[in-house]
Amino acid sequence: MSTEPPSSPVVDPWVARDAAVVWHGFTQMSTYPDSTPVIVDRAEGRELIDVNGTRYFDGISSLWVTTLGHHVPELDAAVIDQLGKVAHATLLGNGSRVTVEFAEALAAVVPVADPHVLFGSDGAVAVEQALKVAFQYWVNRGEAGHHQFIALGGAYHGDTVGALSVGDGGFGTTLFEPLRFPVIRTPGYASADWAAKMVSCIEANAATVAAVVIEPLVQGASGMLMADPADLALVGEACRSSGVLLICDEVATGFGRTGKLFASEWAGPDFRPDLLCLGKGITGGYLPLSATVASGAVFEAFNGPDLSEATFYHGHSYGGNALGCAVALRHLQLMDEWDVLANVTSVAERLSSRLSDTVLDLPGVGAIRQRGLMAGVELAPPPGSTRWGRRVCAGAVGRGVVLRPLGDVVVIMPPLTTTWDEIDRVVDVLARSIETVWAEDAR
Ligand SMILES: Cc1ncc(COP(=O)(O)O)c(C=O)c1O
Repeated sequence: MSTEPPSSPVVDPWVARDAAVVWHGFTQMSTYPDSTPVIVDRAEGRELIDVNGTRYFDGISSLWVTTLGHHVPELDAAVIDQLGKVAHATLLGNGSRVTVEFAEALAAVVPVADPHVLFGSDGAVAVEQALKVAFQYWVNRGEAGHHQFIALGGAYHGDTVGALSVGDGGFGTTLFEPLRFPVIRTPGYASADWAAKMVSCIEANAATVAAVVIEPLVQGASGMLMADPADLALVGEACRSSGVLLICDEVATGFGRTGKLFASEWAGPDFRPDLLCLGKGITGGYLPLSATVASGAVFEAFNGPDLSEATFYHGHSYGGNALGCAVALRHLQLMDEWDVLANVTSVAERLSSRLSDTVLDLPGVGAIRQRGLMAGVELAPPPGSTRWGRRVCAGAVGRGVVLRPLGDVVVIMPPLTTTWDEIDRVVDVLARSIETVWAEDAR
């Protein structure tokens, strides 16, 4: 396949129809039609196929959700089979068989002691639930004053108001400042001493803190910033010895992304979040489902008489959706049956060596950060150059690889079943796209 972008892009009537009625999130709609968006019609394996039949490798796993690939026969079958039973039944006051089965399977693998699964629909909901559970936990125990959260600089936990509050700046957050609740902020993974700062903050504020919130190992949305697992362990130990709850947001890192099923596992068996937030890859990228997994100790604090104030009065209409749980259950089985983590390790090594020998030394490249199949190539545009991340990724899309930047960091998050050949294709396309943008600005 040619790696040259098409010389005269065809104006797609689907883009006009799309822009006329669909309001795309995190997207400036006035310029959307001009940015040659890909309008997906179908997909095969790890390739998206647009309405014109053009194929693209899905280099960002459809915003970090796709794990095994698209249109996976086994996952398709799980949804179809569940459709023959029931698509959805509420979890408010009642149960659903497949949801029980998935919760049991999940409970067996999460790094949480005596886990209890509170379902939601998206990552931000999983975080929002964790914040409310942590807050109410202290109230239910009759221990007043634990109303603060400690969160990291550069944190991203989603775009609902609670998640925005524990998140740091960026992505238009500042605008909502009057709505955000105050948070104790310590330096993020960009600072070498982030863990020491967080540990002393935990110790100093233990009497008023409800929970510490972190993205274990990788701060994804702030540009793929990496933490040392030993530092994570220090924070976990400080939470435990100070009696402060630890919320681990594994919406991005969960389900094999980092080479272990959950990133928290890198910090050792003693690192056990009290609340674990899961989303994105939980259904392999098929259906919207998320979960907040609470430890038994947290869960117990909510037991009390019927209709009492100890109850967690929270739950969404589609939480624990049966179709989502059916595909999530099959997905978890396939992760094991296909030994997906072994592929992540092997392909991550390939990605690392190819990025080092093909991309790192290109003019316009500043740094490369990677953990498993989460990678960020930080561009270093020459002075006066603008929108480099956007332009490099547009070049990649034109060459048949979907990439999306975070500012001037190009994110590479391919599906976990990606092959070495596909990694080579992604890296070669990225290198050509960077060279092209560099040459344009050097003119
Ligand atoms: C660490 C983390 N938490 C939460 C979220 C929000 O997830 P969602 O977009 O599914 O609401 C994201 C999204 O990127 C994330 O990276």
